[in-house]
Amino acid sequence: MNNKVYIFDTTLRDGEQVPGCQLATEEKITIARELEALGVDVIEAGFPISSPGDFLSVIGISRAVKEPVVCGLTRAKQEDIDVAAEALRYAKRGRIHTGIGSSDVHIKHKFKSNREQVLEQGVWAVKYAKSKGYEVEFYAEDAGRADLAFLAQMIEATIAAGADVVNIPDTTGYCLPHLYGKRIQYLFDHVSNIDKAIVSVHCHNDLGMATANTISGLIHGARQAEVTINGIGERAGNTSLEEVAMTLKTHQDLGLTTNIKSEKIYDLSKLVSKMMRMPVQPNKAIVGANAFSHSSGIHQDGFLKHAENYEIINPADVGVSSSSIVLTARSGRAALKHRLEVLGHKIEGAELDLVYENFLIVADEKKHVGDEDLEILATNILVLSR
Ligand code: KIV
Ligand code: ZN
Repeated sequence: MNNKVYIFDTTLRDGEQVPGCQLATEEKITIARELEALGVDVIEAGFPISSPGDFLSVIGISRAVKEPVVCGLTRAKQEDIDVAAEALRYAKRGRIHTGIGSSDVHIKHKFKSNREQVLEQGVWAVKYAKSKGYEVEFYAEDAGRADLAFLAQMIEATIAAGADVVNIPDTTGYCLPHLYGKRIQYLFDHVSNIDKAIVSVHCHNDLGMATANTISGLIHGARQAEVTINGIGERAGNTSLEEVAMTLKTHQDLGLTTNIKSEKIYDLSKLVSKMMRMPVQPNKAIVGANAFSHSSGIHQDGFLKHAENYEIINPADVGVSSSSIVLTARSGRAALKHRLEVLGHKIEGAELDLVYENFLIVADEKKHVGDEDLEILATNILVLSR
């Protein structure tokens, strides 16, 4: 089996659906260009029928990027597919992403339909999208809760209808990693034409499992991961691009590779956060402000002895210039001594003990002790001890 994982970025579609994150066309084009530079394989540029703005953005992005496939979302409806086909006309490689619900809850309560009818509608949509001359990806919405035998039937029929990629979304973020992986495995075992399409994983983070589910799906044979920068997306968000890319890079034992130029991750994370007015939580994996910062005495001491004691990723690999040591009341002598040395003060023994005592008093008051405070502490001790 091919070991390349295609990265399908949906920051500009699933991510941009978040209230308050809406972008102007020019901003979307800026982000799309950066996604191209990052090395993503597919950019989902919007949902063309949803608004004139999305329609124009898909046109603008199609014109702006050369390498990635540009994708437009549709429902399984003729008017959606017509508008998406029109919006993609300048794409060097365009893809229509069409689909319909696959779980009984969606079939009954969203489509007020039955399994036979949604299956027929899905097959029709794939054939119609295919007739427009683009690549076609089919999504079986809410596949995470769908009856497995029916899901397999739907996937087999849509591949037979011409789908190049089949997307198995955990739309509601319901699945557990081992069970989502089993779903993907089930499709490989029960869909006779599964080798004719790429299987894609699209996970939401309602239980905080989006990245774990995505990795589990990839381990069981999926070869496209649908992700967003910083994990932004509906409700609790989507799988985050940086987490998937760095998991695959860190666990080379999985034997899966991507085209992502990881050293560009941090800058793009900041750009998306700023443009979408969506702050990144400080403890966010890979791109949070604390992701490479060490604050407790035991960790600081271990990190200063050998970075790999407490870091599994070299910060430079994701474009972060260096790790940081934050001096707080939990810090120990080793971190204090190190920072003083960086500031040009070589203080040891009894003098260091004295600075440390005073440092703890300042740290209890100020929470975070900065370089200006250390300069004062060091100068006072040096003056007193002469
Ligand atoms: O979460 C989902 O099911 C989706 C589809 C439209 C692909 O975003
Ligand atoms: Zn989604």
